[in-house]
Amino acid sequence: MKELHKYLKEINQHTEKITLAKFAGDMLEPTFGKYLGNFVNIMLYTCRPKSILELGLGSGYVTSILASYAKNMNGKLLSVDIAKEKIDRARNELSIYNDVMELIEYDIVDYLEESNDRYDLIVQDSNPYIYKKTLANIANLQTKGDVLLIHDANVYLNEYCPEDLKSVMEEFNEYLINFSLYQASLIDLEDGLWFCVRS
Ligand SMILES: C[S@@+](CC[C@H](N)C(=O)[O-])C[C@H]1O[C@@H](n2cnc3c(N)ncnc32)[C@H](O)[C@@H]1O
Repeated sequence: MKELHKYLKEINQHTEKITLAKFAGDMLEPTFGKYLGNFVNIMLYTCRPKSILELGLGSGYVTSILASYAKNMNGKLLSVDIAKEKIDRARNELSIYNDVMELIEYDIVDYLEESNDRYDLIVQDSNPYIYKKTLANIANLQTKGDVLLIHDANVYLNEYCPEDLKSVMEEFNEYLINFSLYQASLIDLEDGLWFCVRS
């Protein structure tokens, strides 16, 4: 628990990604860095969402920012991930947020088809290959003025990005810009983040 407190304190001091690497350990994978993490934190306290849905929890870095906000501001967070080990680790590492955070092991595609819940804020950072096919179902869970964040907008600019991922993300970016249910603006930091407001 001491380690977790130290980690969260470091996040709040906007430390380098190396700290995240230590936390993520052998499950490290591409994630938000300190600038996007800081952006999300500021956005939370500006937009003040009450109900938050996170799609893809990965290392738990963004989860910890969302859950910390929810605890401070009387919000609720639901985080969905298909990988049992990620859910188990977050349950263990982020247990101080259990009263405001629910973690479920489920396929996001199925969750979005079956859910009738409403979310003021949705954070999509799961798998770019399903971004396009899930966008309409995400929009069904939001109403006018709600916010959707979608990670990886700029990943295709990265020289190490595989060719098929490049084309999937470029195609999705085009689709999103023309999608009438959201007004999308690019936050041009790190791998890029779409800040979308529900029309
Ligand atoms: C890039 S990581 C998320 C990183 C996270 N934002 C962080 O701060 O570390 C993507 C996550 O989405 C999950 N995922 C991918 N496809 C999924 C699906 N169809 N349903 C549920 N989870 C999925 C993966 O298991 C992985 O944990």
